[in-house]
Amino acid sequence: MSKPTTREIVKKAWQLGIVVPAYNIPHHPMMEPVVRAIRDTGSFGLIQVARLETVKFKAESFKAIRDLYEKNKDEKYTRLHLDHVPVIDEDGNHIDYVKEITECMQLGFESVMVDGSRLPLKENIAATLRVVEAAKAFNVPVEGELGAVIGHEAGPMPPYEELFSSGKGFTSAAEAEQFVKEVGLDWLSVAIGNFHGAIAPGRKDDKKVEAKLNIDHLKKINALAKVPLVLHGGSGIQKAFLREAFKNGIAKINVGTNIRQPYERGAAESVKKGQDLVYQAMLDVIRVELGVEGTAAKLLN
Ligand code: 13P
Repeated sequence: MSKPTTREIVKKAWQLGIVVPAYNIPHHPMMEPVVRAIRDTGSFGLIQVARLETVKFKAESFKAIRDLYEKNKDEKYTRLHLDHVPVIDEDGNHIDYVKEITECMQLGFESVMVDGSRLPLKENIAATLRVVEAAKAFNVPVEGELGAVIGHEAGPMPPYEELFSSGKGFTSAAEAEQFVKEVGLDWLSVAIGNFHGAIAPGRKDDKKVEAKLNIDHLKKINALAKVPLVLHGGSGIQKAFLREAFKNGIAKINVGTNIRQPYERGAAESVKKGQDLVYQAMLDVIRVELGVEGTAAKLLN
């Protein structure tokens, strides 16, 4: 029997109200303890790398991460995902995104994300559509983003409470419906109060402000978009909001800062110490934060 595809697994998670975590690997030694913790807890997880992690951290290249994944993977519990390849990056550079994403699909990435969220709606639709077309030949699901999930940009964050209560940058439910329909999108990343942990030098070690989520707004998006929804900035969100989000359409959550910071702290002493701290952090994320222990059996059977 062929192995369940990532498209099938995430769809099942969405239908069951279970979340699929996707763990970022900005440093190679993180891969082993991340996969080990997923397996030891019988959970299911995606291993992912974002373009910026090959440029601003030590992921090196998409191929290097693919090779490392091949050595560490356990297909009873894991799949390989390509996180953020932006059309325009956090520094304003235009990226040759179709070429880079196509190369990743040739390398064997099993799902991909194109981030056109810095573009106006019409251009985001056109850009995301180009990737959806390219992905057909590989039968690979595509994640797109609508709304502003801030945090990766340099410069200070606006005050969080203001951001949350104003709803500025939140994904519009009506636009989400249009975007998914016109693009034929598999998964949609939304902005509902979530934000990315900082990556700028001088701020990348900061503790994240505890984020909230506007669940009523999520319900509206979920009712109209009708595809699995994705939550970026998955570190440091208040647990009660997470649980509600998983019941209301969030089927994939990206976790970066919560495992990167412990690694970097430990690695200042030794790589082994960094790996030990990642493993411990993963157990906490899986068991306490997300409550996904044992999900592999439910999602892959
Ligand atoms: P955090 O670093 O805030 O967990 O966000 C990770 C993420 O969304 C990667 O795409």
